[in-house]
Parts: sequence; C-alpha cells; structure tokens
Amino acid sequence: MNTTEMTATAQALVAPEKGILAADESTPTITKRFQTINLPCTEENQRAYREMLFTTAGLGNFISGVILYDETMRQKANNGVPFPELLQQQGIIPGIKVDKGAKPLARFPGESVTEGLDGLQQRLADYVKLGARFTKWRAVIRIGKDTPTHFGLAANAHALARFAAQSQEAGLVPMVEPEVLMDGDHTLERCEQVTETTLRLVFGELAEHRVALERMLLKPNMVIAGEDCPRQATVREVAEATLRCLRRTVPAAVPGIVFLSGGQSDVLATQHLNAMNQIDNAPWQLSFSYGRALQAPALQAWKGQDVRAGQQQLLHRARCNSAARSGRYSHELESHKLAA
Ligand code: 13P
Repeated sequence: MNTTEMTATAQALVAPEKGILAADESTPTITKRFQTINLPCTEENQRAYREMLFTTAGLGNFISGVILYDETMRQKANNGVPFPELLQQQGIIPGIKVDKGAKPLARFPGESVTEGLDGLQQRLADYVKLGARFTKWRAVIRIGKDTPTHFGLAANAHALARFAAQSQEAGLVPMVEPEVLMDGDHTLERCEQVTETTLRLVFGELAEHRVALERMLLKPNMVIAGEDCPRQATVREVAEATLRCLRRTVPAAVPGIVFLSGGQSDVLATQHLNAMNQIDNAPWQLSFSYGRALQAPALQAWKGQDVRAGQQQLLHRARCNSAARSGRYSHELESHKLAA
C-alpha cells in the first residue's frame, strides 16, 4: 500500500462502531484454549475453529479487522476460499501477528524481550502477497518487586519501533502492542505508573525510528489493578486512570487506540471500553482488539461441533463491544433484550 492507502486502512480499522478481533493465537496458546473444551489441538480443529469464527454472518457490521497467525493466514475454508479472502468478502481487513514471542531477557530475571526481527523484511513481503494489510507485535511487561527495569522497557520499546518502521516500509499498518500484564497483586496506581513509563519510551523510540503516527495503531493494556490485588478498582476508576495515562503519553496524530483484554472477563472488558467512550472527546478513536474477551463464550458454545451456537456468541460479544465504542452499551443489550 502507498502512504494514502495505509492512512485510510488505519482509519478503517478504527471506524465508528467497529473494532478488531484478535485471532492470532500461536499453536501453544490455542492448545491451552482447546484444553478447556477437551478438544485435541490438531491442525484441522484449529482450521475448523477459525472457519466457525470467520464465517459468522454479519460479523463485518461490528468487526473491521482480524489478526491472524501465520498458519491461519495460509489456510482455507471448506469451500476452498483462503481465510484472508474470506474475511475480505465480509468487508473485514486481514492482519497478521509477526512477532515470534516474548523470550527471557538475558541477565534480567523476570523480564522478557520479544523476538522476530531477523528475516522480518522477507516475511512482511510474503504476508503482503497473502493479502495482509496490517501487522501486530506484542511486547510483554511484567510488574514485579524490582521489575520492569528501565533497560527491559527500553529493549522492548526499541524492538517495537523497529517492527513498526519495517512494517510501514513494507506498506503495512503496524499495530504496536506493549502489554503491561495484569498478573500479580500490584495496585492500579502501580499499573498506571508502569504503563505511563512504557508508553513514553515507546513513543520516543517510534519518533527516533521515523514511524508515521498517522499510519499506525496503539494496542495497550487498560490501567487496572493486578488480578490478585485485594482492592479492585471500579469501572469508572479504570476508565479515568486509563484515559489520564494515555492523554499524557499518546500523540493526537495516532488515529486509534485498540485495547487488548488481557485476561479481563468478557463483560468487564466491554464495560471498561464503554465507560471510556462515555467520558469525553478523546483525541483518538477508543476501540477494541480483543482476543479472549471476544472469543471465550464462542469457544465454550462451539465445543468443537456446534457452529451455530459459537457464531451466536461471537456475534453477541461483537455487537456489545460495538455499542461500547460510542458509550451505548447497556444491561439490556447484554441480556439480548435489544435485538440488533
Ligand atoms: P487478549 O484480548 O486475549 O489479551 O488478546 C489480545 C491479543 O492480541 C494479545 O496479543
């Protein structure tokens, strides 16, 4: 894509009422998800699961883009149509996870750095041929007693920026994902402090690497207390802290912020997004790029066989999150009382 098309793609991914479905689980991750429904993780089961998700009728009304994993990018639906093409037929933009996962950072116990820069240029060119229009790279930041260190954050920020610059050079819109994990017993305040430092470093590196902010998306965590923290914040507190943190760190030139769900329950992830969109006019679109929070109920309903039940659940969560994009999510909508 040329620069005009990349800007248009970034904007289309955060079009009003729409958000992104993250379906880019690596084989080890999808194996864990399948264990919860006692399904062996064969290549065919993975393909059938993704086909169930992607052929959901009407999904394109709520979902602008889907992030795929390398293997899924190359698979086909039962009718022989490759998944990227199938998504495009639904009006959905195909994207691809290009990192090779977070690996332990040598000499920095408890910290990791994401790998995958070697050979990236060639892989990006291949993904363009397969139909991808955007890319994703996830950095993992764990909060501990003495972590993250400045060095660990800087190493991840540098890798994220190199990935983003290379993606843009290949004509792809990068989705930059620094995830501060919710594992642990830290407070919301500590999460806010770590997220703020992380985003400052990330945007510093993006500028150094000459990344065009208009042609990228940010995929951050929300600012929330660790899952083992005895004091869990209210929905309003999460929304306010997250927006305060983002306003301090994310330039207005970035078209959209697409949150990850990170292990929040599906309903809570929707409530948080809804509350943020009710607060006031943020300079960027505030949207979602959920994995578990969109897929969990669909996976449990599908159980390896019930396509219709799985699709109904996916469509319901997509519709609820679409409403949260404009602060219109409600209990009635959650309990199906308002049909679309
Ligand atoms: P979750 O919403 O399950 O955190 O997944 C989003 C994602 O893409 C993580 O990289």
